[in-house]
Amino acid sequence: MNPDVRPRADLYPGARPRSDLGIVVLTGAGISAESGLATFRDANGLWASLRPQDLATPEAFARDPDTVLAWYDARRSQLAEVEPNEAHHALARLDREWPGEFLLVTQNVDDLHARAGGRRMVQMHGALARARCTACEAVHAWTGGMPRGTPCPGCSQPALRPDIVWFGEMPMAMPRILAAVGQADLFVAIGTSGTVHPAAGLVGRLPPGARSLELNLEASGGRFTDSRQGPATRLVPAFVDEMLCG
Ligand code: APR
Repeated sequence: MNPDVRPRADLYPGARPRSDLGIVVLTGAGISAESGLATFRDANGLWASLRPQDLATPEAFARDPDTVLAWYDARRSQLAEVEPNEAHHALARLDREWPGEFLLVTQNVDDLHARAGGRRMVQMHGALARARCTACEAVHAWTGGMPRGTPCPGCSQPALRPDIVWFGEMPMAMPRILAAVGQADLFVAIGTSGTVHPAAGLVGRLPPGARSLELNLEASGGRFTDSRQGPATRLVPAFVDEMLCG
């Protein structure tokens, strides 16, 4: 690590030692698109042909558990067919090498950030690779199918559900996320349409003087200091090089 490296002045009002600079990164489905996972709101996204109210709400699960469980089984089985891309790996490098505070907040339920080596990260919408027991609240790593009636490995009750945050449910790790955003010097939103709260509102909770950057195929219209358009696999490695190499 080059000790005399300074971040680009146009991202900071005045360059300070990097160990003093905190970064929060928010990712959405767009960062996994080039790995082959569908986004939600693009023209060929999941919500173009499916209705979230039929698949991603507690009411849908109560009404038709077999359909909901089968949809998450299909998405979970897809994880074995995809790999982290250069954008995931670049963020894992930033996580490893950035000496200041760093938190990756992902809305994604895929495991690609973790498989790329992300450590200082939270999945605010849960994870496909986990099951949660509605009887004993235990959470288990899960890679296979989860048909209705699958017994909980802990309490044996047939009460498992995907450990996913559905619409209307409280996202995970919010106190940690809000504390990190409230102290951040730089907030970077990557591959998210900025349509789902509370994730979409995080950029508005930065402290005075903090900077914000959007990396997306197209500008989402959010309130960012800086916005760059292009594919994540091109923009994110370049951004990380810029932050680590000055
Ligand atoms: N590189 C960069 N950005 C991309 C790429 C790419 N290769 N491909 C698509 N994008 C951008 C799109 O332009 C869009 O702005 O990624 C964004 C994807 O937006 P959404 O499909 O709305 O996904 P996301 O923002 O993650 O959705 C948020 O909505 O349905 C819920 O829980 C679900 O976590 C999800 C939340």
